[in-house]
Amino acid sequence: MSEQLLEKIKELKSKRKAVILAHNYQCGEIQDIADFCGDSLGLSIKAAETDADVIVFCGVRFMAETAAILSPQKTVLLPDKDAGCPMADMITEQQLIKLKQQHPEALVVCYVNSSAEVKAESHYCCTSSNAVEIVNSLPKDKQIIFVPDQHLGQFVAERTGRDMVLWPGYCITHVMITEDEIKNAKQKYPDAVVMAHPECSESVKALADQLLSTGQMLNFAKTSSAKQFIVATEIGIIHALKKQNPDAEFIAASDKAICPNMKKITLEKVLWSLEDMQHKITVPDQIRIEAKKALDRMVEVLPAK
Ligand code: 13P
Ligand code: SF4
Repeated sequence: MSEQLLEKIKELKSKRKAVILAHNYQCGEIQDIADFCGDSLGLSIKAAETDADVIVFCGVRFMAETAAILSPQKTVLLPDKDAGCPMADMITEQQLIKLKQQHPEALVVCYVNSSAEVKAESHYCCTSSNAVEIVNSLPKDKQIIFVPDQHLGQFVAERTGRDMVLWPGYCITHVMITEDEIKNAKQKYPDAVVMAHPECSESVKALADQLLSTGQMLNFAKTSSAKQFIVATEIGIIHALKKQNPDAEFIAASDKAICPNMKKITLEKVLWSLEDMQHKITVPDQIRIEAKKALDRMVEVLPAK
């Protein structure tokens, strides 16, 4: 890695009064230069709180959009304009409007992995770390429409016992992790604790010891007495887990669990982004105001520790 490149990023970052936020699935070298690394909820909170003029978002489009919705006065940059989330694209605003017409009494909870337009049509937003708390906080007599991730939705329905209508979206990366891979890893590492993300398929989750968001995985590993962990989520998190727990062993459940969109962000693109102030992510006011209501309600409900 070129020292010169890192130096230039540092210089421009201070010139632009910028902060670099990175998701836990980013490449190790991006995580290492970030001012803050975290899960979707932690990043949303940081984006709302920071007093920087510019946020360079090392993640995917919906995350940068969330930052732009929460901090409209700041400039939000996504270093690769094509870093999207296929799951977020699995439901459109029109499809959600139609679903709401079919269930007119239901409350809509959308996973943060969704477009600004879908958030604007939702009552509440959630992330994998607070989805259970959000749904539990809603009136018991209400049916809940949950979009777009069927696997997170299934997990929330099981934990809360609520009547939920699930949209059939999914994460193309998490469904790559198979039941056989977990079984093989467990055989090879019988003492390891299996941590799986709720976006995994139901058969994988059934074999896990802990179902956790990426931020919760980091907290759990830090406080656990276990020394070996099988990690069923995108492999970028392993960099952060190892850095935080140098004496423990982290085994990727599947080497196929790589999100190609998260990996589009490189150090060079971060530099270009700061040089050219590209690519600016903005959300039209009408959508932003409605989407912000769903996000504000999410940030208010704290996840259980
Ligand atoms: P969390 O970091 O909130 O667990 O989100 C996972 C994810 O898939 C983000 O795209
Ligand atoms: Fe979307 Fe899955 Fe990539 Fe997260 S890991 S950004 S849910 S495709």
